[in-house]
Order: sequence, then structure tokens, then C-alpha cells
Amino acid sequence: MKIKLYFILFLCIIFSCKKEAPITRGLITKNAMVVSARAEASKIGSDILEQGGNAFDAMFATEMALAVTYPYAGNLGGGGFMVYRLNTGETGALDYREKAPLAASRDMYLDSLGNVIPNKSTVGAYAVGVPGTIAGIFTAHERFGSLPIETLLKPVIALAENGFTVTKKQHKRFMKYDSIITAVNGKTTLVNKDVPAQSTFKNVALAETLKRISKHGRDEFYKGETAKQLVAFLSEKGGIITSEDLALYEAQWRDPIRFAYDDLTIISMSPPSSGGLCLAQIMKMTEPFDVSQYGQNSLEAIQVMVEAEKQAYADRSYYLGDPDFVNIPVDKLLDHTYLNNRMQHFSFDKPTPSDSISYGTLPNYTMEIKDNISYQEHNETTHYSIVDQFGNAVAVTTTLNGAYGSKLYAENLGFFLNNEMDDFSSKPGVPNVYGLLGGKANAIAPQKRMLSAMTPTIVEKNGELYMVVGTPGGSTIITSVFQTILNVHEFGMTMHDAVNAPRFHHQWLPEEIRMEPNRFDDTLLEQLKNLGYTINETRTPVIGKVDAILILNDGTLEGGADYRGDDAAVGF
Ligand code: GLY
Repeated sequence: MKIKLYFILFLCIIFSCKKEAPITRGLITKNAMVVSARAEASKIGSDILEQGGNAFDAMFATEMALAVTYPYAGNLGGGGFMVYRLNTGETGALDYREKAPLAASRDMYLDSLGNVIPNKSTVGAYAVGVPGTIAGIFTAHERFGSLPIETLLKPVIALAENGFTVTKKQHKRFMKYDSIITAVNGKTTLVNKDVPAQSTFKNVALAETLKRISKHGRDEFYKGETAKQLVAFLSEKGGIITSEDLALYEAQWRDPIRFAYDDLTIISMSPPSSGGLCLAQIMKMTEPFDVSQYGQNSLEAIQVMVEAEKQAYADRSYYLGDPDFVNIPVDKLLDHTYLNNRMQHFSFDKPTPSDSISYGTLPNYTMEIKDNISYQEHNETTHYSIVDQFGNAVAVTTTLNGAYGSKLYAENLGFFLNNEMDDFSSKPGVPNVYGLLGGKANAIAPQKRMLSAMTPTIVEKNGELYMVVGTPGGSTIITSVFQTILNVHEFGMTMHDAVNAPRFHHQWLPEEIRMEPNRFDDTLLEQLKNLGYTINETRTPVIGKVDAILILNDGTLEGGADYRGDDAAVGF
């Protein structure tokens, strides 16, 4: 009898242990770390740090190493945003977002009847915005870098020349996009379905481009031989970017969005990215609720988070655009009373229908659009996180927009061109590839930057560096960063577990909660459906690919490299 009881007890213990997800820590290092979409890029960044470089040096090298190893999103032909925090506590942000060419116009993607022409803003040379990446990394380096450019590019050039090993996931992507890349380019490019997993991928043309940039500096890309080749190529393919567009491009320093959440201070990207502002709205609307009591991915927590997301994305669609072209009411949108009012209809009994939600009304605000701004007067997605051995941190999200951008591959230069023009609102009320709506604040105008959702973010706790975080994922970027921060702060998860946890997303319209398939409990899904939520598990099967670093109590660093990709943390 006794033996039987022990056996039952033993089974109970086994059974209950099975239910508890094991807690796992990511890579722990003492001094410094780089987490990015590719191990080779993280390693190059970390090696630069080990040579005595700082986070901005590592940023330069990591960004270019991603262009070599991760042409899906790593780029020379795209743009990005960087948020930094120095070891002194100084914070700032750099905007190297692409811009609309001078010849762009509001209705350039509409037909004579005013309808959006399918694919025109997403595929091929006409979809390309003026690239900002090279300006971005040089601008950051100019202000904060410490090692010579040749030192930073040397290992990257070697990587492009000697090659890297194609992963299974990478090969799958080559297969998936092969036909469209071939169709756009009129022939097979370097990136194609016949490049198998485990093969060595070399990019000699890119190595040559990088050598010229190493020798001649930033202007090689915007005014030199590379610029000449790029403009000729784009024009031959039906693009409108001119040498003047390239020569005019400048990255812009911006003041980041800064807000408090409990004992955290969150520093994130300001417009022209909607990331920081939306994140702030969502977090401030969530803060009054005791989400830690509800539990991670519990019914109640999801209800609160989703409701806040809907309200923020409704505001986004109306108020946000390039701050150089439209007056964005940042303070009013973050006002405590305003945000409390936005949540006043929230109920745990049923969802607030999206069609009953609109952007909020702001007192004493009139939108002013400068759509005829003169360029003479105008001075001018993958994520990686870096913490250096001096305590400086950078969060960088960089993108071509779609997978391989516009799919247009500049063969002689060795890189893809973005399709970032699709992030403008081609026509108010017509969604872009992410299903996001935009208004006149984000209408196309020459030299304007298109609205982004990129959310490179740094978190302080009690005034000290605490987390560096960000992700790709278009419209789901903001909500993925939001969930990752809450996973650590509210739900006590490790960095590793926080980035790998199942994710969901709501963006107001369409009226649905996107959820990663097979990762949420059936009972939870039923409960949500019974309350009236529409669940979509097919539209975005992978939500975000978060790469983050957490500073632990003892000062060591924990990396969170998302299992959804080939992401890797490297450090020392
Ligand atoms: N292209 C994606 C974003 O900027 O949000």
C-alpha cells in the first residue's frame, strides 16, 4: 500500500514538473556582448570590441557584416535607426531612414482613377527610397567611433571574399523568394534557390564595394563610383533616384522618446519611426493594470495589452509621419489624462470593436503639413543589440523593408535595394504590406522620410542600463518589443525566455489578434473567441525576431537571441 502511495506521489511530481517550463538563461558574459541575426556578424562585432573598439565601432562592423551574411534584411541599400546610451547616462538617437527621391509625388503609386497600382510601391526600382545606411554608420562613427574605418571593414571584407556557411533557414528563404527575385532582375542573381544549406556563400562584388568605401569613406556611396553605378543601374531599371538624391542624403540626430514605466525608464526611437511613441502609449495605457498578477500570456493580460495596442495604432495612423514635414503632437499623445481616457471603454467582458475606435481628439492641435518643403532649406529590418566593455549601449534596427527589399539586386555592387516607399501611405485608408493604414501625415513628398515601426530600445532600471532590445517584423515590431520588456519586468523571465516566448499582436485594423500558431493553449484561444475576439494564426506565423541584452544584478550580461532565426549572442 505504502509503495503504491509513493508511486502515485512520484507520478504527481513528474507530472507537475512537466507542466513547469524550464527556466533557461542565454549566453552570459562579463564585459561585452553583441546579439544579431547571424553568428558571424555578432562575432565580428564582438571581436571589434575585444580589439578595444566601442559600441559604435561594433555597430559599424556588425551592420556591414549583416549586409554580407543576411541579405534578407542586412543592407547597404536600406536604412535604419539607432538609439544609444553612453556610460555617462547620455542618450540619443540617430535616424538614417530612407527618403523619398526628389522626383517622388503624393500620388505616384495611383492609377488615373486614383486606385493604388498593385506592387508598384513594393517591387522593383520604382519602390526604392534613397538609402541611408552608409550615412548612418559613418555619422555614428564620426561622433563616437574610436577605431579607423579600415580596421572595422577589414573582417567584413574578408567575410564577403571568403564566404560564410548558408544555414537551413537561409536556404529556405532563398527558395521562397527565388522566383520573384529572378523575375524582378530578369535573370538569376547570386541569391537563388540553388544555393544549398551548408554551402559557402561568397559575394565578391560586395567585397569590392566595401573596399572602395573603406578607401574613400562615406562619400564613395553618395557621390563616388558606387553612387554613379547605383544611379545608372536604378535608372536603367525604371527608378527615379538621381545622383542629386544621393548627394543630398544626410542622417539626422534625433531626441529619442523617453518615458517611465514603474521603476524603468524606456528610451526608444522617435519619429519618423512610430516605434517609441506607440510603445510609450501602449505601455502607459497598460501600466495602471496589475498585469503581473494576471500572468504572462494570460487571458486578462492579453485583453489589456491588445486594447492598448488598438488605441495606439489608431493614433499612429492619423498623427504620425516625418517630423520634418508634419508637426507631431508628441506631448499631447503621451499625456497621462489623454491615455487614461483612451482606455475608459475597456472591459474584461468583451473587446472594444475596432470600428468604434478612432484616433483620439487632442486639444489645441491642428495638423500642419509642409508638403512643398524645399530641399535646399533642409539640412540635413533586422535588429542588433550591443553593450561594450565600457558600459555604452546601442540598439539598432535596420531594414530593406520587405524580404530582400524591392527584390532588385545591384549585381555589380553586391546588394539589394529597399522597397521602403511602401511605408508611406500611398493613399489614405489603403493598407500597406503590413496592413497598416496611414493618413496625410505620412503621404509621399519629395525628400520626406516614410513612417516606420522600428523600435530600437534601451531600458534603464533605477537610472542604470538594464536592457537593450529590438526586433524586425514590420507592424509587429512595436508589440514584440512591448511583450519582451513585460516578459522580463512583469513576469520575471530571463532574457532568453523573454525573447523566445510566444507572441501575439493587434494593430487596430484589421480587427484580429494575430497569434503565433501552436504556441498558445487551446483553452486560452477558446476563451478569447468566446469573448468575441477574432484570432488569426496564419497571417503572421512568426511574430518578431527579438535580439536583446539584459544586465543582471551582478553586472554580467545575458543575451537573448531569438530561436525563430539564426540569431546569436557573442561576447566576452
Ligand atoms: N519597413 C518596416 C518599418 O520601417 O517599420
